[in-house]
Amino acid sequence: MALFVDSSDPKEIKALFSWGSFSGVTTNPLIITRESPGADLAEVIREVLTVSTGDVSVELTSEGEEEMMAEALGYHAWDPQRVTIKIPLTEVGLRVLHQLAPRGVKTNVTCLMAFNQAYLAALAGATYVSVFSGRIRDMGYDASPVIETTRRILDRERLETRIIVGSIRHLMDVNEAVEAGAHVVTVPPAILRKMVWHPRTLETIAEFNDAWSKRSGPR
Ligand code: E4P
Repeated sequence: MALFVDSSDPKEIKALFSWGSFSGVTTNPLIITRESPGADLAEVIREVLTVSTGDVSVELTSEGEEEMMAEALGYHAWDPQRVTIKIPLTEVGLRVLHQLAPRGVKTNVTCLMAFNQAYLAALAGATYVSVFSGRIRDMGYDASPVIETTRRILDRERLETRIIVGSIRHLMDVNEAVEAGAHVVTVPPAILRKMVWHPRTLETIAEFNDAWSKRSGPR
């Protein structure tokens, strides 16, 4: 089980990696557009790689097979050990995956809403499959059965693909994804900070420190 940071902001990522709890980063075109409008992608990812450890997912934005292959190999060259090519799940996406997997390129097949999609990607050799919890819930379905079924079948068939659960909107989405069998949950910085916070913890720390500050005798 692992937690990734779902962000492209190098400052945030650097601060969060200092906690020691995280082992990868995921980005997507929407996150990069929101967090670094107008920025050069290569520059953003280079900075993200510098301030983090583990796999860093970078999503393809072209839609034709040849363009996607060229884009993927370009990103892969930035850091072949760590850059993970995020491939949206379409028929073309599967063809691209099928060409990248035998070359040893790490892949993350993304925008998944159902087990059947994850199964296709796993059979085609995806390193990761990204199940979108919040967007599944937006459609009125529970994401947990999708995660549970995917995990059960991956384990049963000894497929090495790892499940990333993304599209996390609330703290409870993290807990439910872990319970349901996600290998990785990728979480936005604001929700990671909520995971630290608890009013009773703060009250308890304040109570202890208050007692200590009023204590007589040597400190
Ligand atoms: C992560 O890999 C996903 O791209 C991201 O979590 C999607 O989040 P959203 O559904 O909030 O856009």
